[in-house]
Amino acid sequence: MSNFKRYLVTAALPYANGPVHIGHLAGCYLPADIYVRYQRAQKRDIKFIGGSDEHGVPITIRAMKEGVSPQQIVDKYHAQIKESFDQMGISFDIYSRTSNQVHHETAAAFFKKLYDDGLFEEKETEQYYDEKTNTFLADRYITGTCPVCANPNAYGDQCEKCGSSLSPEQLINPRSTLSDAVPVKRKTKHWYFPLQNYEDWLKGWILEGHTEWKNNVYGQCKSWLDSGLQSRAMTRDSSWGVKVPLPDTEGKVLYVWFDAPIGYISATKELTEKWDDYWCKDDTKLVHFIGKDNIVFHCIIFPAMLKAHGGFVLPDNVPANEFLNIEGEKVSTSRNWAVWVHEYIKDFPGCEDMLRYVLCSNAPETKDNDFTWKDFQTRVKGELVDIFGNFVNRAFVLMHKLCGGKVPALHADVLDDAGKNLLAEFEVTKTKVEEHLENFKFRDALFEVIDLSRKGNKYMQEKEPWMVARTLAENPDNQKLIDNCLHICLQLTANLAILINPFLPGTAQKMLHMMKVVDKMLEWENAGKTKLLSVGYSLRAPELLFRKIEDAEIEAQIAKLKAGLVKPETGAQQPEAGSQQPENTAAPKAVKEQIQYDDFAKLDLRVGTIVAAEKVPKADKLLKLQVDLGFETRTIVSGIAEHFKPEEITGKQVVVVANLAPRKMRGIESNGMILMAEDKTGKLHFINPVDAIDNGSSVS
Ligand code: 2FM
Ligand code: ZN
Repeated sequence: MSNFKRYLVTAALPYANGPVHIGHLAGCYLPADIYVRYQRAQKRDIKFIGGSDEHGVPITIRAMKEGVSPQQIVDKYHAQIKESFDQMGISFDIYSRTSNQVHHETAAAFFKKLYDDGLFEEKETEQYYDEKTNTFLADRYITGTCPVCANPNAYGDQCEKCGSSLSPEQLINPRSTLSDAVPVKRKTKHWYFPLQNYEDWLKGWILEGHTEWKNNVYGQCKSWLDSGLQSRAMTRDSSWGVKVPLPDTEGKVLYVWFDAPIGYISATKELTEKWDDYWCKDDTKLVHFIGKDNIVFHCIIFPAMLKAHGGFVLPDNVPANEFLNIEGEKVSTSRNWAVWVHEYIKDFPGCEDMLRYVLCSNAPETKDNDFTWKDFQTRVKGELVDIFGNFVNRAFVLMHKLCGGKVPALHADVLDDAGKNLLAEFEVTKTKVEEHLENFKFRDALFEVIDLSRKGNKYMQEKEPWMVARTLAENPDNQKLIDNCLHICLQLTANLAILINPFLPGTAQKMLHMMKVVDKMLEWENAGKTKLLSVGYSLRAPELLFRKIEDAEIEAQIAKLKAGLVKPETGAQQPEAGSQQPENTAAPKAVKEQIQYDDFAKLDLRVGTIVAAEKVPKADKLLKLQVDLGFETRTIVSGIAEHFKPEEITGKQVVVVANLAPRKMRGIESNGMILMAEDKTGKLHFINPVDAIDNGSSVS
């Protein structure tokens, strides 16, 4: 039993610069909604807070490109996102927006308090500036020629063609993406929040105090904390956002990641006068639902801000999910590789619960997962239509056919073990579902509900009331057997409605209608009970809970996905919605154990050129390379075949560990190793000199 008096649940505020896709739903909105619906059914005092994140560079850029104001952009997408959430049944108590007055006031006051308490560092730095549009440029908004592969459209932070990580200084002929102007360096002053001052406290609070957090969340936090925190600028040069509440700061606004989480507080203020009960009393359980790219902001930066400010509760849990890929590929809004929620609703009207089902049963709770249309079709048919839907439908059809359309009695004299066991399962399942939901294990919880309906089907199949009906003429007493079977199946249906309600609320409503009972029955305390429907009560005819998805429908969706795909060369101007592109949100890898200089000096690193490359037969991962080291050409076997084709790496300069002991791989002797960097997505990149230099040059 929980010691908390009230619950405050937030779901990440999506950027209002594009629609939401199903990855957003699976990542945070659906689990948050399931959790909240369950807690409401438990009659807990709970507020579910959401809203649009309406500040930040991507919004201003989008506005500039479309020739409209940022306000017009956010108005458009805020309305669209809100509607998608409504239609998908995401039951926020408030869906607000950070462009609201109350938010501007709240965020400015928060900043001012930290400023007045002397908690910011003031620093002047040089940043790239576009003199044509009078804008300071984030690295992503500078393009130029890649010094590594000569791609003319590389970004100031990365070349998407060769994958090299870059800084704007490395670009040849840098240009602003906004105006094509050559960017210049300009001095600018900003206020930095010294996160390092909170490091020890964060370590104690998270690493010792929250060992129960999900592994993916705890692990990321540990990584950030182990690699050491640094000051972060909490202001930006921009005309769009919450104005810095200090004198002489024209053109400066709060950093979007400073103001956005405060949006949770402002939205609560809008929702209720008692907002401070939720935010300031220790017996509130605050839970942030987010996607994995938001972990550092919600587990480290925002809590440090709250701590610095004082007087606020801290999150009790941050059950972040990983990412949902689509048809085997990472979602990319710029490439239009996504299933948009508003389009799904249009293409599959009335099938919102079916999507909720698939996204929950396949949720990326512990690792990235894949959504495929085929799997969607299979799960809907195999689990919803054939198991859950089929059970409820049969119970109702048979009750009408064999019991006069009324709930039949339960006859104790003929109640057998199968019936008793199934009745006992109601409570067992309730307890399991409850435990999983309290621990944010939504997939497991949903599985238990479906499994209970599976047990119902099995029971009905064993009892075969339709066969028993044939014996009635001879043996009228057998009606009791029919009654018992259908009585139990109908009570089970009522239980299923309660248990499925957090997950598939539309379905639960249909079931209530069929059973002619009111919402009150869905209260969680009713789950497990075996006498929810009164004997003799007449019930309606069944309605279809789910429908099959036809092959043609999924083929059309796959074709649509492929047809809408924008090639990276032409479409990659806009950072991904749902993540601030210039911000690196992946947890840094923990640094390995310290070594002495002598250990390092033992390595002989040399520059070489790959002069030939071929696949190693029957080895998916290996390429056999010939590397010219100037003084000799070596055979090196490298595990990069899944990342590069032989033809694309021939001619590349690389750095080689030249004195590594030879090793045999698939019968080939490998004499050295190529150095590679792995980015946060797991993609490999060559480490090579910026300018071509002589093979054999040593690296130290
Ligand atoms: O990643 C995102 O989409 C951010 N807009 C989430 C903000 S969550 C909170 F801090 F508001
Ligand atoms: Zn390149």
